[in-house]
Amino acid sequence: MTRQTVPILPGATLGVLGSGQLGRMFAIAARRMGYRVHTLSPDTGTPTGQVADREWVADYDDLDAIAGFAREVDAVTFEFENVPVAAAESAARLRPVRPRGEVLHTTQNRLREKTALAHHGFPTAAFEHVRDRGALDGALARIGTPAVLKTAGFGYDGKGQTVIREPSEADEAWQSIGATEAVLEAFIDFEREVSVVAARGADGAFAHYGVTENRHRDHVLDVSIPGVQLPGNGSEEAVTIARGIVEALDVVGVLCVEFFVTRDGGLLVNELAPRPHNSGHFSFDASVVSQFEQQVRAVCALPLGSTGLLRPAAMVNLLGDLWQDGEPDWSAALDDPLVKLHLYGKAEARAGRKMGHITAFGDDGEDAARRALAARERLR
Ligand SMILES: Nc1ncnc2c1ncn2[C@@H]1O[C@H](COP(=O)(O)OP(=O)(O)O)[C@@H](O)[C@H]1O
Ligand SMILES: [Mg+2]
Repeated sequence: MTRQTVPILPGATLGVLGSGQLGRMFAIAARRMGYRVHTLSPDTGTPTGQVADREWVADYDDLDAIAGFAREVDAVTFEFENVPVAAAESAARLRPVRPRGEVLHTTQNRLREKTALAHHGFPTAAFEHVRDRGALDGALARIGTPAVLKTAGFGYDGKGQTVIREPSEADEAWQSIGATEAVLEAFIDFEREVSVVAARGADGAFAHYGVTENRHRDHVLDVSIPGVQLPGNGSEEAVTIARGIVEALDVVGVLCVEFFVTRDGGLLVNELAPRPHNSGHFSFDASVVSQFEQQVRAVCALPLGSTGLLRPAAMVNLLGDLWQDGEPDWSAALDDPLVKLHLYGKAEARAGRKMGHITAFGDDGEDAARRALAARERLR
């Protein structure tokens, strides 16, 4: 499918809804190519604002502010998928919004996302809509235990979800997620978790960063190793699913598909992120064209670039917990010349907060992961 879309060329201004680290790295990639960047969020001095040409401060539901912002830029994208759809629609009346608001609408709610995946025939864990406390018992009877109860909206980094080991835990679980509309899904005793960061251009071109293995700690991503080969044709299958998803949702931009790999080698889609993703941060240093530059290119209707891995790499996250005993020892981490440090400029280091990451190179992915983990150890 080819569509005639006028490219937005360097010198133009790109607007980012949201102001965290994803917007920061997008802005760095965009500025490197000669674009100007504006960011809008309710906060000031933000990770994106620090590197943007202009930081707008407004609530996402202030549609007049969103329209004012859109008028000042040439295209709008987002780095935070919980922006209200009305904001994307308001911007879309004035400027191209990529990906389009409907992609946001589908992916910002787990129930809609899983329903869309199932509708298109993509494999997921068994799930059910849990409207209220009463519906949870029936869902538990059908799905069985263990199961995972997740809020339908606004979940990230393991927030808004809890594991139910036995039906007797239903009350506690329902309260713990805030007694709100939810999805109950079967607990998957996975062999590992992987993701595919995919990109689709305005002309329908497809690109992907291969299969990345992701190791989590307390439900938060800890280590990512790109370029893993799944047994059999698992890797090709994961990429085929990712391609099917970006095409089915008509995405223009980067979208990450998180998978569970089951013990028999099967793939289940866990969730989608309609933007650059933490598991693709390695690409900022290790790929010919990073996921952030790829997002710039897609948003600007330019040709996508090569996703080739320059050399084996791995990424580890730096969470706020590392600041517990004072400022981490940055120079110790950089003792290894194959280690690269990324900090997001967040003023306050709260436990569990993503403050930065380390990318390391190595002889292979595991060697790079060992180097990245060792560098993080030296921070303490
Ligand atoms: N059904 C499940 N079975 C087993 N583990 C799960 C399940 N759902 C989530 N998890 C674990 O919790 C992590 C975070 O859950 P996820 O649904 O991806 O939410 P978030 O939006 O917080 O990333 C997953 O990466 C996985 O490690
Ligand atoms: Mg996730």
